[in-house]
Amino acid sequence: MHPAAIFYHFKDPVMITDGHMQYLFDEKGKRYLDLFAGIVTVSVGHCHPRVNAAVIEQTKRLQHTTTIYLNNQIAEYAKELADKMPGNLKNVYFVNSGTEANELALLMARLYTGNYDMIALRNAYHGISESTLGALGLHTWKYNVPSGFGIIQAMNPEGYRGRFGTDVNEYVQDLAELIQCSTSGSIAGFIAETIQGVGGAVPLLDGYLKRAYEVVRQHGGNPVLNGCRGVDVSELGVGVAAEVSVLAVGAGVGEPVAGVRSAVPGSGSRRVPRAHAPLEAVDVEVRVE
Ligand SMILES: Cc1ncc(COP(=O)(O)O)c(C=O)c1O
Repeated sequence: MHPAAIFYHFKDPVMITDGHMQYLFDEKGKRYLDLFAGIVTVSVGHCHPRVNAAVIEQTKRLQHTTTIYLNNQIAEYAKELADKMPGNLKNVYFVNSGTEANELALLMARLYTGNYDMIALRNAYHGISESTLGALGLHTWKYNVPSGFGIIQAMNPEGYRGRFGTDVNEYVQDLAELIQCSTSGSIAGFIAETIQGVGGAVPLLDGYLKRAYEVVRQHGGNPVLNGCRGVDVSELGVGVAAEVSVLAVGAGVGEPVAGVRSAVPGSGSRRVPRAHAPLEAVDVEVRVE
């Protein structure tokens, strides 16, 4: 039996009951090599011993308080994330999901600049809350309701299906014209994924973000980099630094943890102690090699 409200991609859905690192197991014990990783969420493997140990230890000590108290784990994790970031992205605000993180990033860009209009890219996914619905550029996820005011999409700079092929100049020109023709000329920001995930694992053309950020800044906007799909899909990977950087999904290996990194001080507490462990696992077991 399975709940009718959920859409499965299989005629006969597989039942998964166990996981260990790169493997999944069904209820009969059949082993599968997991190349999907919970839609790129299980960043360090299923039931990673280091993550499990951290979850158990923290759950025994303290599950939840509130932001009115101090907790060293939050500060230490924030510092670890900040230390990996370039520029002045030294403040981290933790939230529960990528959608929430993007909502916050949009709000921050608007409050900080005093401008309202935001630019996103076609074929992008940033969540399906009220504001992020405006930022996403895929009809398959849009709903026929008023939402996401003040956000418009520029041409997607991708070499395979992109309208201007691999010509970065054309895409940058489109962005500049869009700002001049469809906004007041002063914008709050520009949000783009490092690699478009839901849109089909689409990398943006090399050099586009750097040029796009210049145009955005000329019009008063803050670049927001949405690195939701990965523990540390950072600016280092795409060669540019944004004013705001978002992380989620893989950061908690399925636990609801996300963060917004910016120059603006913030805090927040949720399941941060557990999120610490995936980052540690990446550092110890991948980066050390
Ligand atoms: C790039 C990107 N942004 C935002 C989100 C939304 O994250 P969440 O499902 O945690 O709200 C996702 C998740 O699919 C994503 O891939």
